[in-house]
Amino acid sequence: MDKIVILTGAGISAESGLGTFRDEGGLWAQHRIEDVATPEGFTRNPDLVHDFYNKRRAQAAEALPNAAHAALARLQRDHKGDVVIVTQNVDDLHERAGAEVIHMHGALMGALCAACGHRWTAPLTMGPRDLCPKCVTPATRPDVVWFGEIPYHMDQIGEHLMQADLFVSIGTSGNVYPAAGFVQEARLAGAATLELNLEPSEGATLFDTARHGPASEIVPAWVEELLA
Ligand code: OAD
Repeated sequence: MDKIVILTGAGISAESGLGTFRDEGGLWAQHRIEDVATPEGFTRNPDLVHDFYNKRRAQAAEALPNAAHAALARLQRDHKGDVVIVTQNVDDLHERAGAEVIHMHGALMGALCAACGHRWTAPLTMGPRDLCPKCVTPATRPDVVWFGEIPYHMDQIGEHLMQADLFVSIGTSGNVYPAAGFVQEARLAGAATLELNLEPSEGATLFDTARHGPASEIVPAWVEELLA
């Protein structure tokens, strides 16, 4: 098993206390996507959008990586082949567990100037009147990908999927494209596919094998077996 490509979603951070989007009482039950996660929503009410991400940033800063994040960092360190981790999550729990990850939906800890494209580390609290340190325009936004925007690093991810021997999807409902289509891309490239999730996802039938249960239990167990 030379090259492993792993996709993670909100389910891997659930046991760190960060809410998922579509589980009962999840973020999308509390907020309307079009209000807080679209460019149009940001134009309409930037204070509301900043407030949403400021709260999530504060929550993420207090959360700790769990055993699933730690196990993936260990796999990346100890597996003889290449281990690429792509995450849809905007928290930084993978990095804090010691892994290197590709953030396809951006990062809560990043700030982006909507005027000039400059990026910098986000302060804990951001607001629409914050000035870009480069062009000094009050056009500061969180460096996260909203619905209607193109996810980051898609070319690089596509190349990794084409070379994958094993594709593993962890803690994601399989509702949001393009990430939900990665399993098919990996299959076309000839990779074996595995789903690790609390319950069967939307695309469960597309995977060769699956293990169901809490990420903090099933991910370390799978890594243990793979490295044995
Ligand atoms: P979802 O909330 O859609 O799905 C979370 C998945 O994790 C579900 O399938 C749950 O069953 C599973 N899950 C929950 N707790 C778990 C646990 N302890 N262990 C393992 N699995 C668990 O979250 P995502 O699939 O990550 O995008 O959502 C994808 C994208 O939709 C997000 O990146 C975000 C959202 O809208 C944007 O905002 C652009």
